[in-house]
Amino acid sequence: MSRFSCAVRCAFALAFGVGLPGCGADDEVLGPVEPTEVSFAEGFLFGTATAGFQIEKGLPNTDWGIWAATPGKILNGDLPDDGPDALAHIAEDVARMKAAGLNAYRFSLELARLYPTRAAFDADEPDPGGLASYDALFAALAGAGITPMVTLHHFAWPDYLSDPSKNDEPQGFERDDTVAVFEAWCSRMGDRYGASADLWVTINEPMVEASVGYLAGLFAPGVSDVERMAGVLRKQVVAHARCFDALHATDLADADGDGKAALVSIAKHDRVYEPADPASEYDVAAAAHSRYFWNEWFVAAIIRGDLDDDFDGVPEKTADPAFVGRADYFGLNYYGVSRIAAGALKLPYLGVLPSQLDLPNDRPKNDLGWDIFARGFGTVIDEAAAHGLPIYVTENGIADAEDRNRSRYLAEHLFELGKASLRGADVRGYMHWSFLDNFEWASGFCPRFGLFRVDFEALDKPRTPTAALALYTEIASARALTAARVAALPAYSSKPHPCATF
Ligand code: FCB
Repeated sequence: MSRFSCAVRCAFALAFGVGLPGCGADDEVLGPVEPTEVSFAEGFLFGTATAGFQIEKGLPNTDWGIWAATPGKILNGDLPDDGPDALAHIAEDVARMKAAGLNAYRFSLELARLYPTRAAFDADEPDPGGLASYDALFAALAGAGITPMVTLHHFAWPDYLSDPSKNDEPQGFERDDTVAVFEAWCSRMGDRYGASADLWVTINEPMVEASVGYLAGLFAPGVSDVERMAGVLRKQVVAHARCFDALHATDLADADGDGKAALVSIAKHDRVYEPADPASEYDVAAAAHSRYFWNEWFVAAIIRGDLDDDFDGVPEKTADPAFVGRADYFGLNYYGVSRIAAGALKLPYLGVLPSQLDLPNDRPKNDLGWDIFARGFGTVIDEAAAHGLPIYVTENGIADAEDRNRSRYLAEHLFELGKASLRGADVRGYMHWSFLDNFEWASGFCPRFGLFRVDFEALDKPRTPTAALALYTEIASARALTAARVAALPAYSSKPHPCATF
């Protein structure tokens, strides 16, 4: 922004007594000015997010079911079937969302629930119980006036597509067969639920699935091979584009007649990248390249059709018609910061050692040891906005078992979102992770991300609202948040982080 236009905007904002947009941090003329208030447009989606494997139970027939049953893979040996049992609580959970004034809900449809066996998939004979549950969920949401956002793949595959006990063979997205099944799955779900949903997520966090499942070996299928990770990433781009096309080929476009065309994208986990030593040109360059690899590589492929097969930052192909334009919005997941040291452990493609645990700074940490850094949320929203698409925040939240820091976290992040909107980002919704405490993958039940706390010991899995839920209700109903309200919230409290896993 030029000095002139910045000064004009600042003067305008001051004259009208409104919070001040983007003349802030880098304005050399007037200095950074924080807005006193942010607001959210009418129709802004205030929601929560979940994923089937993490809340449903009864999915042992998946790679994650097999992984979780393998000793030593999940913190404290927790088992997903002890989780919140969401399909047994649909009506009351949706009533909770409505009572809290939330108007959106992101959840996943599980391929393994509707097609538990390969034979059922091939015959297109979905499981009647699974169908009844998902039908009931869509109906309950429609009845409550809550907008669904539907994820079609959130980490877990049925065991006929991925099996950690045979992980020396290709699994999941490594198999061409999986891409074909996924394409058909997207088409079938578009046909069945296209009239109920306008917002679709094909793949949740492709970078996380590929890197944690095929490089770090900490998620199913438990592979540690950088070439296999790279192969998964390339195949996910193909799978996403095919799913995108399959969904749009169904009668998705405004199938529910609400005047809004269906929007399809991925949920992209973006991070802030910081050099371990800001004075080291190597660390700075490594952080920049890591940011490219993690935040940009995948979206460059599905937005611009730029394919950078060797991850060096220079695409071998640009504007490939098979991939260009395959994102109707930017789905953004944000959890924090990665610190990058060059020259430590050198991973091919990156040449760096990334870390997100216990970063040596003053920032408060969550129960997993990740930095709490709301300002970084503004950074990644600005980066996402540069792609020129509307943005939906598909996940953002905090592991906080004692509910000490969640209220401030929620308010600070929504305030940053409001500031980014003032700077020009077209952010249309925010899905807080998570609605409920749930099975947090390799970390089991230790990290509690829920706006509702779940008593996992009790048979009927009772839910209790956290303090942050009331605050969320307050912000959603006002569609506004003042800096004073944020400042009045209790300060973050430092504490040990018992759930640190990776
Ligand atoms: C994201 C996942 C989600 C949840 C949160 C905490 O990476 O998409 O399922 O585990 O982290």
